[in-house]
Amino acid sequence: MDVKALVSQMTLEEKCSLLSGSDFWHTEPVERLGIPACMVSDGPHGLRKQDMGADHLGMNDSIEAVCMPAACATAASFDKEMIYKMGESIGSSCQHEQLSVVLGPAVNIKRSPLCGRNFEYFSEDPYLAGEMSAAFINGVQSKNVGTSIKHFAANNQEHRRMSSSSNVDERTLREIYFPAFETSVKKAQPWTVMCSYNRLNGVYASEDPWLLTEVLRDEWGFEGYVVSDWGAVSDRVEGVAAGLDLEMPASGGHNDRKVLKAVQEGILDEAVVDQAVERILRINYRYLENAKPETPWDKEADHLLSAKIAGECMVLLKNNGVLPLSKADDIAFIGEFAAKPRFQGGGSSHIHCFKTTSALEAAEGLKVTYAQGYSVKDDVATPEMIAEAVEKARNAKAAVIFAGLPDSYESEGYDRTHMGMPPCQNALIEAVAAANPNTVVVLHNGSPVEMPWADKVAAIVEAYLGGQAVGIAAVNVLFGDVNPCGKLPETFPKKLSDNPSFLYYGGEGNEADYREGIFVGYRYYDKKDMDVLFPFGHGLSYTTFAFENLRLSAEEINDTDTLTVTVTAKNTGAVPGKTVVQLYVGKGQTDQVIRPVKELKGFDKVFLNPGESKDVTFTLDKRSFAYWNDELGDWHVETGEYTVSIGHSSRDLAVCAAVKVNSTVKIPTYYTLDTIFMDLMADPEAVKALAPILDAIKKALVPGSDDKTAAASEAITEEMNLAMLNYMPLRGILSFGGGAIAPESIEAILDKLNNA
Ligand code: BGC
Repeated sequence: MDVKALVSQMTLEEKCSLLSGSDFWHTEPVERLGIPACMVSDGPHGLRKQDMGADHLGMNDSIEAVCMPAACATAASFDKEMIYKMGESIGSSCQHEQLSVVLGPAVNIKRSPLCGRNFEYFSEDPYLAGEMSAAFINGVQSKNVGTSIKHFAANNQEHRRMSSSSNVDERTLREIYFPAFETSVKKAQPWTVMCSYNRLNGVYASEDPWLLTEVLRDEWGFEGYVVSDWGAVSDRVEGVAAGLDLEMPASGGHNDRKVLKAVQEGILDEAVVDQAVERILRINYRYLENAKPETPWDKEADHLLSAKIAGECMVLLKNNGVLPLSKADDIAFIGEFAAKPRFQGGGSSHIHCFKTTSALEAAEGLKVTYAQGYSVKDDVATPEMIAEAVEKARNAKAAVIFAGLPDSYESEGYDRTHMGMPPCQNALIEAVAAANPNTVVVLHNGSPVEMPWADKVAAIVEAYLGGQAVGIAAVNVLFGDVNPCGKLPETFPKKLSDNPSFLYYGGEGNEADYREGIFVGYRYYDKKDMDVLFPFGHGLSYTTFAFENLRLSAEEINDTDTLTVTVTAKNTGAVPGKTVVQLYVGKGQTDQVIRPVKELKGFDKVFLNPGESKDVTFTLDKRSFAYWNDELGDWHVETGEYTVSIGHSSRDLAVCAAVKVNSTVKIPTYYTLDTIFMDLMADPEAVKALAPILDAIKKALVPGSDDKTAAASEAITEEMNLAMLNYMPLRGILSFGGGAIAPESIEAILDKLNNA
């Protein structure tokens, strides 16, 4: 379709009407020109296509669909191929249901365990979130339907989500809150981007030209349309000017009329409206011209795919050897979640499942007894319920408690106020663990919880919100049909107050200051050398793995080069399994830049039979070593030594090697009389320029520095001399130099240096 030609035939009124939805889920048609409406729908881990009773909070029913594991779970797979496949399946079902765009993935960073929507988000780590997101988008879009990566940007709390301003410095945005979007745009070019409800540094995301145009389009190269989160528009005219193409759902034509008036009055250029309309139509026609409503949707097959994916996501947090269970043994399943698992979160991503399989159903044929243990609805474990559970646990070889967070504890629309599990469930776990030493806890939750009983149980499996077939996956993992291979995509702190955002999370009124800066998740816990309950990247297996023979392609590189890193992964145990090879890069802190101890810069999931070894290779580039330099307005690599580590988790590094990276970019410097010596001495050019007068400077500024008598050298060592000189501004010569050096000659040196 020649979209430009089409737009040229449209009246201004028609064009403005296209800037918002025709209803909750459709873009506006233009019948006169034969332009059809296109439908979008939530997801993203299934379809929430609503025919009747539209809403954006998952209140009303939608079509029967398949609920795959939510992002909290899929991130734990650390498996790009698998999430690509999940994307393909979602894309196909979109084709079947004639949907042009599925509204996701959601890639906001988990700043605090309290965020009510953490279950929809991937990780506390921007690299992991970006890689998983890009793979998902590529999977969906391979079926010629679009995605809408959301919520752009810095939407990390539900508290006051439509009014709050996330106040974040640029380095933190660039290093933590932007990369998942940036990577997705660069590697997968999502058809659409959804701006968030919140303001960013005071400006609504829906009307921020820096965010929606300068960064997103001009820097990263985004080509699709930007859509508002549902109801995120405050000033529509500002929004159109900033690059917000489509307003959803609609404002009854009110905002379209405002845009029309702004164009008529010369406040807004008509070309900007044309551009927005073109972007929307280009995406719509990309779908329409490739629509395949005849695409089959085999929900039963997707149910099984969902079970398989959920199995790849489960994280074995602890195992004293009780797992895997034997199918020959009597096992007690305890807890209402065994019969009615919690497998998805509440709100706009809530899927109306065509079926679910609980662990109890999946265990049919095995020697499994069941006790309800607690009531989710009443949030209680009565003495009778606990007594029954204890009795069943005593009579079994092992007791498996299915526990976690009820729906009311975490949802879109509000945040948690604490990190605890329901007290009734904690009490049940304590009682059962006291009755049977082989007590296993399977957790269904979208975000970390405190586990006061962690030391008292024999094993813990984190199932997250694993989708409608989570019961199958849980039984497969418990009985060893699937060897667990998930890794935590976030740190589980011991308690909420350990979290770096604890002091500031939620903000004051509408101001949410991100004062912990770049120190989010393990970047903080590592820097503080703090004990955590379970670290980022942690996850056990029924076999063991070794990482050895780390090889770097060079000992020294320039920041324009790439570095190839190879390591051998070996299955050293008795059963086949998959592991995740995690690559971290770290640099010691310097006087110039405060940095995390290490950051994830690569990962790969590998399958190995017992005794088998495989080489795993990563390519690192400038970004792997860089930090965001505000002065340059760009990524920058400090010259120096970097450590490349390969680990089983962020706290279990197996091998490491050093590489020297040289910067090819000089940060522009401007020297004045206020510049301190330390900064001058760090620049070889300045050292050269000052060489002729350096001794005289030292003598003038550090009295006794030329006194070589034993008494003097004992009292003031050369090191002390230099330390004292370090922080002295050059103008100190004027104050303390006694005229030894003429001010003019210093100024001449500075001039020469600055103009070099
Ligand atoms: C949510 C989005 C969702 C939209 C449409 C909003 O409330 O924040 O994630 O896609 O509604 O349901």
